[in-house]
Amino acid sequence: MDRFHFRTQILIGGEPLSRLLAGFRRVFIVTDQFLRESGRVGYITGRLTAPGAEYQIFSEVKPDPDVDTVTAGVGQILAFAPDAVVALGGGSPIDAAKAIVYFARRQGGMEKCAFIAIPTTSGTGSEVSRFAVITDKQKGVKYPLVDDSLLPDYAVLDAELTRSVPPKVTADTGMDVLTHAVEAYVSKETGDFSEALAEKAVKLVDRYLLAAYQNPDDLEARQGMHHASCMAGAAFSNSGLGLCHGMAHALGGQAHIAHGRANAILLPYVMTFNAGCDNTLTKTAGRYAELASLIGMGATSTRQSALNLIHMVRRLNRSMGIPASIRDAGISREQFEEMLPVLSEAALADRCTASNPKLVTREEIAAIYRQAFLKTTRPVRTE
Ligand SMILES: NC(=O)c1ccc[n+]([C@@H]2O[C@H](COP(=O)([O-])OP(=O)(O)OC[C@H]3O[C@@H](n4cnc5c(N)ncnc54)[C@H](O)[C@@H]3O)[C@@H](O)[C@H]2O)c1
Ligand SMILES: [Zn+2]
Repeated sequence: MDRFHFRTQILIGGEPLSRLLAGFRRVFIVTDQFLRESGRVGYITGRLTAPGAEYQIFSEVKPDPDVDTVTAGVGQILAFAPDAVVALGGGSPIDAAKAIVYFARRQGGMEKCAFIAIPTTSGTGSEVSRFAVITDKQKGVKYPLVDDSLLPDYAVLDAELTRSVPPKVTADTGMDVLTHAVEAYVSKETGDFSEALAEKAVKLVDRYLLAAYQNPDDLEARQGMHHASCMAGAAFSNSGLGLCHGMAHALGGQAHIAHGRANAILLPYVMTFNAGCDNTLTKTAGRYAELASLIGMGATSTRQSALNLIHMVRRLNRSMGIPASIRDAGISREQFEEMLPVLSEAALADRCTASNPKLVTREEIAAIYRQAFLKTTRPVRTE
């Protein structure tokens, strides 16, 4: 890593947001239907206190936002001409808002305006990342858009907003956080700054994820996970991710498995591959061992420490009802066999795969998908 770029101001809680929003007159809010209908948008509109302040709400975003949604948003934002954009939601509304602003500026000549991201899930870290993931529904492919201009100006971390997240979404998004931290830590592009953030994120996940899952009203656990998500986001925004995300993007695009869940299922298999647990141990095994020691799971050998971290991922999945395999996630063998060539090709081409610490071929990716389908870490034949 030869640079660490961070430009987002982080505001903790709703109070600093009130001061910030008092300075804007035309606010374009990007969110999803649930957050609009449940009244969560009042968190923003109630704070628009400038005389004559106006707002417009774009709430057409669905999970895994697609190109058509972004195009519709670009039309509306250009007509409204805001002085601030507020993205309220999980990764889907935040990514959609980033892409809407990106294309409105490049293709529609929109002036620069403030961008405020308010996450309502603790998962993607999109509030501090230079990534936005947009889906091409026709092709069944998810494209990560990566650009410094996608970095929000402000991120608001208020755990109160995450209290209503259902346990299943808490589980999936929480495992997304862990995957970001682990992949950022071992990425080819990592460095001291990303490592420090990833280490803290792993510790926070270890301490708080199960508690947030088991007791949605545990605000200390919720805020801890919110911080973990944000730190892991800042880490991977600089270091890049790895093979697990490349494979999860492909699986999400083809099989419509939620992003965090796809990562959670694939992570133990990808870690086993990266560590070389089946044959020759790699340097990455040593890196996993470092993370294991951080959370008190170190053993006397590197191999056992790395395995302990992989077991910890499996245990977390099991405790939160996340399926252990692609088959258990409801994908039939026929569907899987039909998708496999497309999945392997898309995962190999995904930009996240490029920063994986171990070089990987299309055949190896297919073999890892097969292991994740069959729930085995033994080598499996690929055609
Ligand atoms: N930009 C990045 O850096 C980055 C990183 C990882 C993933 N992503 C992308 O982000 C998207 C996934 O985001 P996500 O996992 O946050 O899920 P999401 O935004 O799709 O939301 C999942 C569900 O949770 C609901 N929800 C959100 N907040 C809630 C709340 N407070 N209470 C109750 N329900 C709530 C939503 O309405 C939705 O039904 C995917 O498209 C993924 O590819 C982006
Ligand atoms: Zn992710």
